[in-house]
Amino acid sequence: MAKMKVAVLISGRGSNLQALLDACADEDFPAEIVAVISNKAGAQGLERARKAGVAASFIDHTLYEEREAFEKDLDAKLKGTGAQLIALAGFMRILTPWFVDRWKDRLINIHPSLLPSFRGVHTHERALEQGVRIHGATVHYVRPDMDDGPIIGQAAVPVLPGDDAETLSARVLEAEHKLYPACLKLIAEGKARVTAERVKIDKDAAADAASLLTNPVG
Ligand code: GAR
Repeated sequence: MAKMKVAVLISGRGSNLQALLDACADEDFPAEIVAVISNKAGAQGLERARKAGVAASFIDHTLYEEREAFEKDLDAKLKGTGAQLIALAGFMRILTPWFVDRWKDRLINIHPSLLPSFRGVHTHERALEQGVRIHGATVHYVRPDMDDGPIIGQAAVPVLPGDDAETLSARVLEAEHKLYPACLKLIAEGKARVTAERVKIDKDAAADAASLLTNPVG
């Protein structure tokens, strides 16, 4: 079966991108990364892409006065790659409804909290402040509202006594690196689909998805 073509958008370190690249290196994995695009010139993720032999490029959003003009160029670039799905991996630009609607149900994101808790930034600090005992990460389809949209998978991790934002974010990140490839696999195999704004997972994949996604650390 043909692999699903995926473009990954990044702004920085790219450790989630690396997890996706590593998963895609397996010849049996149902997706391939065809392009990595960053809005930051020095993003470490660009180097990771090049090392993996994936086309890596940069679009400088500061050169555009209007957000939509930037997105029109980004959209054209993405179309040129033949991507069927866009995965945001630490892409720190808010996308307009125009772009989000254009890629509806073909645009996914990873967010470092158990949504709908802790949308936005500083999720680990806020989780500690609130004293939650379980924290984690979510992969979801993108909708115009920030960190909103049908949930594909979540990974939960414990908040341990003595945690600070650094130790907690490291634990969540380790979970993210398992969660994102697992969710991409479900989508690329056609086993996760959006129906009435919820993600329906095929019955034959549900047990796997549950064991993988509930708490994939360790
Ligand atoms: C990840 O923790 C990701 O969940 C988060 O940024 C980090 C990127 O790290 N994304 C967001 O906060 C998006 N709202 P990475 O560049 O090493 O993958």
